[in-house]
Amino acid sequence: MRILVAGGTGVIGSRVVPLLTAAGHDVIATSRSIDRLVPATAAGAEGVVMDARDAASVDAVVDQADPDAIVHLLTDLATEDFASNAQVRIVGTRNLVSAAERAGVTRMVAESIAWVGEPDTEPGDESVAIARDPDSDESLFPAVESLEHAVLGLENGVVLRMGMLYGRGTWFWRGGRAYERAEDGVVVATVRHTSFVHADDAVRAVVQALDWPHGIVNIVDDDPADADEWAPELVWAAGGGETELSVRSRGRASTNALAAKLGWVPEHPTWRDGPFDLIDRA
Ligand SMILES: NC(=O)c1ccc[n+]([C@@H]2O[C@H](COP(=O)([O-])OP(=O)(O)OC[C@H]3O[C@@H](n4cnc5c(N)ncnc54)[C@H](OP(=O)(O)O)[C@@H]3O)[C@@H](O)[C@H]2O)c1
Repeated sequence: MRILVAGGTGVIGSRVVPLLTAAGHDVIATSRSIDRLVPATAAGAEGVVMDARDAASVDAVVDQADPDAIVHLLTDLATEDFASNAQVRIVGTRNLVSAAERAGVTRMVAESIAWVGEPDTEPGDESVAIARDPDSDESLFPAVESLEHAVLGLENGVVLRMGMLYGRGTWFWRGGRAYERAEDGVVVATVRHTSFVHADDAVRAVVQALDWPHGIVNIVDDDPADADEWAPELVWAAGGGETELSVRSRGRASTNALAAKLGWVPEHPTWRDGPFDLIDRA
């Protein structure tokens, strides 16, 4: 297939691109900066500059790439600017889906998040309603809803609701912002009821989902946990002392039975290993 990877330089995208080229696909990877595309081109992909907020830029890239499928991995959290991230989810997704429709592309795999359901202590499946009355950042839920609605408007749109990412390159990895806070004993949990997923497992899901049917699939590990439980483990792994936990919202963990049915089983079934893959068990 010819596959356009929108966001080919991020934690997920930078690992998806070499997997797809190694599998024999023609891959076109995007970034806002040509310099950041060097690893993608070294892996055999074509690198193109695209700003997802600019409809003309997105149209031009999709037209020129002429893909069979689009992988949508656009997020904007580098500066922890959640309002900007919401804009990328809303405007960037709208631009990408419009360009896909114009170009006759029906298949899109998009990254969403797993903690969008109405807060509850019980993990939810893919049918949970997106929270209406959020007790956290008010831009989050409408932006996720907008992204999912747009992608599912495509005949072969697949939305992956990913758990909180950990592993190399994420906020939980050495040098990442959650890790650095944990070194000082501080944990700012996005949600209390949390599902995690290792970034390598998330990457495998993206690749597999290119063959999945239309719909939403939770991509989370087997071990949902509350922040009171995992926060001290993160602090311990980062070498911090007493844990000082603050929680942004209650949130909701998720189940992964549908993904298992589709053939995706996490190679990291629990964040407890390491924990968070931070401590070498050998
Ligand atoms: N605690 C939390 O609340 C939370 C939640 C979710 C995720 N996270 C963290 O966020 C990261 C998520 O990983 P990820 O792979 O989804 O994201 P990422 O590593 O931030 O990558 C995002 C991708 O989107 C692209 N992009 C961003 N804005 C764009 C725009 N306007 N136009 C075009 N491209 C744009 C980036 O490209 P360029 O920058 O190269 O242009 C990059 O390829 C992890 O590190 C995770 O730990 C934290």
